[in-house]
Amino acid sequence: MTDGSSAPTVAELMSAPVVTGTPDETLAEAAARMREKRVGSVVVVQDDKPVGILTERDMIRIAAAGADTSRARVSEWMTPNPDSVAPGVPAAEAFASLSEHGYRHIPVVDGTQLVGLVSMRDLMRIAQVQPVERPAAEVPKGLEGVVVADTTIGDVRGLEGFYHYRQYNAIELAEKRTLEDVWYLLFEGELPSLRQRDEFIDDVKPWRTIPIEVKELLPQVAALGGPDAPPLDMLRTTYSMMAVDLDYRPWLDGSRAELRAQAIQTCAVVPTLLTALYRLKHGLEPIDPHPDLPYAANYLYMMQGEVPKPEYARAVEQYLISTIDHGFNASTFTARVITSTGADLGSAVVGAIGALSGPLHGGAPSRALAMLDAIGTEDKAEPWLRDAVERGDRLMGFGHRVYKTDDPRSTMLRGIAERLGGPKVDLAKAIERKAIEVLAEMKPGRQLYTNVEFYAGVVMDTCGVPREMFTPTFASSRVIGWTSHVLEQSADNRLIRPSAHYAGPPPPQPVPDVA
Ligand SMILES: CC(C)(COP(=O)(O)OP(=O)(O)OC[C@H]1O[C@@H](n2cnc3c(N)ncnc32)[C@H](O)[C@@H]1OP(=O)(O)O)[C@@H](O)C(=O)NCCC(=O)NCCS
Repeated sequence: MTDGSSAPTVAELMSAPVVTGTPDETLAEAAARMREKRVGSVVVVQDDKPVGILTERDMIRIAAAGADTSRARVSEWMTPNPDSVAPGVPAAEAFASLSEHGYRHIPVVDGTQLVGLVSMRDLMRIAQVQPVERPAAEVPKGLEGVVVADTTIGDVRGLEGFYHYRQYNAIELAEKRTLEDVWYLLFEGELPSLRQRDEFIDDVKPWRTIPIEVKELLPQVAALGGPDAPPLDMLRTTYSMMAVDLDYRPWLDGSRAELRAQAIQTCAVVPTLLTALYRLKHGLEPIDPHPDLPYAANYLYMMQGEVPKPEYARAVEQYLISTIDHGFNASTFTARVITSTGADLGSAVVGAIGALSGPLHGGAPSRALAMLDAIGTEDKAEPWLRDAVERGDRLMGFGHRVYKTDDPRSTMLRGIAERLGGPKVDLAKAIERKAIEVLAEMKPGRQLYTNVEFYAGVVMDTCGVPREMFTPTFASSRVIGWTSHVLEQSADNRLIRPSAHYAGPPPPQPVPDVA
């Protein structure tokens, strides 16, 4: 401690010497150095002065943009003139002033001389253990914009209306690839070759079958609740039974191979569980997986009892691909929080299903379709929508925490809906236009546009998926995202344990005797 006080300074936490780069070198050279030195950033230096910083996050951005790293220069992609911090500044102070910018690596500069690099993670560790009067970092309600982890699975760029899985545009994947390919990409980090695809499909197939002990219990679960008991709640219950039956244990006590096998099994069996429960609820016999059908076609087959039309199977497959992952959404974050405790994969998935069931997250597509029905005809749209917003209701299928422009999934699904045709498409398009106008006028500045759920309902309805199965269908693809995040979180884990700002009556107050 430099001044005799107990507050550690940046100098005590920083790493030195710093791994540096130059503006003129290629991205490939800088990336190779990051890998070799096992660091998350290079400070770009000219004449001994830091002029920029290039981080792992930039490398993901670069990969997503498809830049040629053997030619592109560091100067084109670095963040120029990065904020820096002086070595003598107390760690907590540096943390508080820098966290608001979302930086993760900050050059430490003495005068004009680069003397070290400090990561936000180091600062945060110190800032949090200090007895502070107020929380170390005040974050916005709902954690909006707060970066809580590093991930290489994917990301969402809300202002651009873009999201990606690994380094690929997710919409392009949905246009060009199969669900199994994208599943493989998320689990393995690369797209499969034809041979790898076939092997993966063969690996997955046996796991689609429901274990017999659980299968025998399904009729009892399907009989619980009323006739409209949500299939997602039944999935939560039966999947939890399966995790017990198959002895899923805390991953901290098991091997990676076991955890991966559980992840594959979970993703493979969820569609079978969902469709079996749905059929039982309606007095129908469950249908076993079809040995020759790929994921999406098999899902419709197990639900509807007949091999679906190829155009319907493909439309549902594209929807499923587009909803596999989407940044740190509430259910994914839930899965990661549970995983961070070392708990079993089953617990993480059960928690994620619970989070997804809320209307603000996954529960909207049937409500969006219900809104179309309630409006009925184009001429009634405007008064209906105005009344709803005036009452303070939310228009289902509009608004998004991250997208402040068109949700690319809704754009793709609108295209699919148009391709499939059907009675609801024209009405949906007219209502969409009106809703955006009404929201822009009555909720100015909130940037409310169509989200994934608006056309998801229209597409699934056209493909014969009943409304009660809309959110469950979403769950059947998102489980691939959740389990990918479980695998990632467990590979580099730290317990996720934030703080809250206590806002009640000041403690300690005397505990009254019982009157
Ligand atoms: C998705 C959603 C939960 C994001 O919420 P959020 O980022 O927390 O946004 P907020 O709740 O802070 O809303 C900001 C403002 O926009 C308004 N708003 C947001 N979505 C709205 C909608 N669909 N209809 C009407 N107003 C909406 C809110 O009323 C609020 O207005 P205010 O400033 O006058 O209070 C929200 O847009 C929503 O409820 N949409 C409808 C449900 C839906 O489609 N869910 C599926 C999501 S993929």
